[in-house]
Amino acid sequence: MTLPASPIGVFDSGIGGLSVLQALRHELPHERFVYLADSGNAPYGDARGDAFVQQRTRCIAHHLRERHQIKILVIACNTATAAAVDLLRAEMPDLPLIGVEPAIKPAALSSQTGHVGVMATRGTAGSARFARLIAEHSGQVQFNTQACDGLAKAIEDSTAQPVAKDPMATEIARLCARYVDALGRFGHKTGEMDTLVLGCTHYIFAREPLRTLLGPDIQLIDTGAPVARQTRRVLARLGGLADESGPLPADREQVRLMTTGSLQALQSAAARWLDLPAQCCTAVQCGEPATTAA
Ligand code: DGL
Repeated sequence: MTLPASPIGVFDSGIGGLSVLQALRHELPHERFVYLADSGNAPYGDARGDAFVQQRTRCIAHHLRERHQIKILVIACNTATAAAVDLLRAEMPDLPLIGVEPAIKPAALSSQTGHVGVMATRGTAGSARFARLIAEHSGQVQFNTQACDGLAKAIEDSTAQPVAKDPMATEIARLCARYVDALGRFGHKTGEMDTLVLGCTHYIFAREPLRTLLGPDIQLIDTGAPVARQTRRVLARLGGLADESGPLPADREQVRLMTTGSLQALQSAAARWLDLPAQCCTAVQCGEPATTAA
């Protein structure tokens, strides 16, 4: 049953889905959110394989539903969506689910040169779901896809480090340079890619080096805002939207962030990217609360 006052569950292999949570808070400011970062098991997309990702997705969905009575689950992870969304739909038909897929359709519609680059994890890029998505839209548009091993992990690891003084002198920038180069020529001339799809929710946090590498005129497309709008539509259809007439909840009441990895890394990501206080964050062990921030 979708109860309006229940929270929205959001999860990712780590902190990448915070980019989706940001868009969700913007679109649905009266809602409450519980976010689970499975950072203790990240990255999902380099070499974990489908069976592992399915098992983690199942475990997290059960945890969020049983412990937090979520009314809907947003899988803010392209890799987990590709590996597990169909399975989860079959196993939990009464839990409304929103998955995240690389923004292939919007990219196909907006590219002027008809050439689009896609950065994704190896898990997403190699999935049957992604192959179908590309096949559906590759009529007039050519897609070059690059599996970006190590990039989500570098972004994940960066949260435990101080903010880099020079964003171009980081492991994230080094990997971005390698993968942008491997994709081919970006630009606005015939045959060049004028659009880059960020097919992993972590990659938006590499926007700065990507922007520097690509220049100001290449379109970067992510999925946060459309996913947030879709979540609103589904909740509205189910009669599950929170009361939007009252005052907005305070940050600490609105958002609860949990991690299976380092609490300190989550706290610093929450402060850096969402401007949220450390008290919003908790460490959990495969579902069980372990420690709470002071
Ligand atoms: N953020 C995730 C995605 O959108 C996965 C990153 C990873 O764990 O490899 O695919």
